Amino acid sequence: MRNIKNPFQYGGIVEGAAFCNRKKELTDLATAVESSEKLFVYSERRLGKTSLVHTALRQLTKSRYASAYIDLWPTDGELSFVAATARAITESMSSNAGQLLDVAKQLFSRLTPSVTADAEGKPKVTFGFNLSVQPGPEIEEVLTAPAKIAERGKRKVVIVFDEVQQVLEYESDMVERRLRSIIQKHQNVSYLFLGSRKHLIQKMFLDRSRPLYRAAAHYPLGPIGMAHWIPFIARKFREGEKMIADDAIQKICKLTEGHPFYTQHLCHALWELCEAGQVVTESLIEAAIKVLLDRESYAYTALWESLALNQRRLLKGLASEPAGVKPFAGVFVRRHGLGSASNSQRAVESLLNRDLIDRDNGSFLISDRFFRIWIGQRQVQ
Ligand SMILES: Nc1ncnc2c1ncn2[C@@H]1O[C@H](COP(=O)(O)OP(=O)(O)OP(=O)(O)O)[C@@H](O)[C@H]1O
Ligand SMILES: [Mg+2]
Repeated sequence: MRNIKNPFQYGGIVEGAAFCNRKKELTDLATAVESSEKLFVYSERRLGKTSLVHTALRQLTKSRYASAYIDLWPTDGELSFVAATARAITESMSSNAGQLLDVAKQLFSRLTPSVTADAEGKPKVTFGFNLSVQPGPEIEEVLTAPAKIAERGKRKVVIVFDEVQQVLEYESDMVERRLRSIIQKHQNVSYLFLGSRKHLIQKMFLDRSRPLYRAAAHYPLGPIGMAHWIPFIARKFREGEKMIADDAIQKICKLTEGHPFYTQHLCHALWELCEAGQVVTESLIEAAIKVLLDRESYAYTALWESLALNQRRLLKGLASEPAGVKPFAGVFVRRHGLGSASNSQRAVESLLNRDLIDRDNGSFLISDRFFRIWIGQRQVQ
């Protein structure tokens, strides 16, 4: 029998055959970059923003578009912001290693670029600048580079800032302020800002007092629909000579609410348990869930024990009620022993701040879909 690698991938960017659907979103993004829009793409954690934008960038025609992807996660201030942005732009504009230094010198002369070899001997561009007391000119230089590229190369430019909420950690709001004034002037440059921690992102783009207030249109990303998961999952099982019926996939999607990371993770475990030639049964799905919950049991127990009683009650309520339930309504408060709507509100606030729950169309959902199942299976308080 062929030894096939588990086709379900979770964690990290997925692409190609591991990437399910998102056709509408890819079209929307293509339209947005074509008209040089500024978009702010946000969702819960691990819902597929980075994978989506990565695929969207790969689909752009190289002769018409130049793109740079900047991951702001490792940055902690203006200095690392400038370096990360300059490096990503330089690398994406150089078609070979020999060009790195020339490109960097043309675009970022102020940042004293040089090219060194990394641990594997691959050339990499580094910048030897010290920020001036007021780091304005350096920030200005990196943020004006995309417009220069668009003018010179007669190509449209797409700049992606991933994990953009990270700029809230910087000492000053200088990057946000410069970004605002510069991106408003740019004609042939599209900016995609990606972020997960919704309450932070909303603070950046919806709070009137913040520099980036209304600087970009909103593009909330949702889960992947069941109709798209069914052929995707069925084909992968079939290719491994394993069988799964549509109703089994529907059950999986109900458990994970179509959330890509949890759906892939559960399918990965299920695929491991299912022998070649076997059909996935309901009890096999339960066994896969058990494997996953057993693995997390220690962490979930510690998390549960760190929660106040009303927070646990609220979570139990959310785990047991259908999606869309209103946790401040009298019936929810009574049924789950919360005492009052304001107790419920306080519990929601603290769970939101810890990213344990997320807003969802006027209701709330438990972010970790496996934690939700774990809570639902627990009998004790
Ligand atoms: N289109 C997709 N098809 C199949 N699986 C996907 C898809 N998008 C995301 N996933 C699954 O979700 C996981 C997380 O994806 P990704 O890192 O792109 O999400 P993210 O929203 O950028 O996450 P984060 O909030 O951590 O930045 C992937 O490793 C994969 O398992
Ligand atoms: Mg991401």
